Amino acid sequence: MTTTELNKRDWVALEQKYYQGTFKRQPLTLVRGEGARVWDSDGKVYLDFVAGIAVNVLGHCHPAIVQAVQHQVTQLVHVSNLYYNTRQIELAELLGIQSKGMRSFFSNSGAEANEGAIKLARKYGRLHRNGAFEIISMENSFHGRTLATTAATGQAFYQASWGPLPDGFKQVPFNDLQAVKEATSEKTVGILVEAVQGEGGIWPASKEFMQGLRKWCDEQNLVLICDEVQAGTGRTGKFFSWEHYGIRPDIVTMAKGLAGGVPIGAMLAAPRADIFAAGDHGTTFGGNPIATAAGVATIKTIIEEKLLENATKMGEYLASKLQTLSKKYPFIDSPRGIGLMRAVHVKHDLAPVIVQKALEHGLLLNSTAPHTLRMIPPLILTTGDIDEATELLDHALADVVALPIAQAK
Ligand SMILES: Cc1ncc(COP(=O)(O)O)c(C=O)c1O
Repeated sequence: MTTTELNKRDWVALEQKYYQGTFKRQPLTLVRGEGARVWDSDGKVYLDFVAGIAVNVLGHCHPAIVQAVQHQVTQLVHVSNLYYNTRQIELAELLGIQSKGMRSFFSNSGAEANEGAIKLARKYGRLHRNGAFEIISMENSFHGRTLATTAATGQAFYQASWGPLPDGFKQVPFNDLQAVKEATSEKTVGILVEAVQGEGGIWPASKEFMQGLRKWCDEQNLVLICDEVQAGTGRTGKFFSWEHYGIRPDIVTMAKGLAGGVPIGAMLAAPRADIFAAGDHGTTFGGNPIATAAGVATIKTIIEEKLLENATKMGEYLASKLQTLSKKYPFIDSPRGIGLMRAVHVKHDLAPVIVQKALEHGLLLNSTAPHTLRMIPPLILTTGDIDEATELLDHALADVVALPIAQAK
């Protein structure tokens, strides 16, 4: 089928017939992407501030990813983890350098990376803490959709329908060290935290909290697990978001941006927690040559193109633009966040309406909740892109301001 023929098909009707209805989709069928832009099946262009939900860190179809994947499919598409795999080892080496000494295990998604982290923590408990198994995680967190990661996720909405959930998880308020201490018992083996909560609406942890967690874990012989699935791979202006806090976790999980759009997950362990033995854990596809070749290309490009510095600079520029818009439109507050991980609080639950209006004007945004507008654009963003996005958002907000609900106090 040619592209024109493909674009003529009624994708929405076809999806209803053939795909399970798990996603609340925007009315948009995307067919192509380049840099910070995507095109729909009618040829309309959009500036993409969703980036696959923090996945396309190098933008769409970055030449480094395209070349790495194209080359790899001509060499080796898949090989079992029964054998050594050069790309997998190269990516583990790069992550070992970035993390200053952690060793990797690769999987295919963030949830799987967290499952691996939970198993590793339970092994730690078995060996070093009298069989302790419980993980304390944070309210408003998000750790995945498997049963164990749903149990670890501190949002009632995700847990409500799926009981009984696996045992051994407990949530406490985010940024409340005293609550963590009070929740710790002889059953506790680890603390799982996002240094910057992503799905929860872009909430960075306080320095006191992260440093306090590290100290508490050392004192109590617990493992500190940082979920870097969304905030990692440079999004906050550091390769790992925990680097902002002057701490080092024992276990780190990654996914999303790590292979620039090719599915991957990673679970890294510092020497103290690096205790998996052969047979303890496994995967068929995890660390697949294509995914890891894309991961190698992603990390090398982040370094070569100085994208950590760019995420910091562009993040500040974006925040300054949002700040200006918040003065103009009373229903949006000052922005919060770090690097290219930003959100604004929206009054009257107008975030989904703003997302809709922005889409009509050619800007893709996302709302994590009716009162939260989230921006997680690619790290290759330029000031020109931000200027254009601000203009498009300004138009969208002007449409919204005309609605009676936006006038309410
Ligand atoms: C912090 C965090 N952890 C874990 C996950 C789950 O990742 P995946 O959807 O790849 O399973 C997500 C997904 O949004 C996330 O943001």
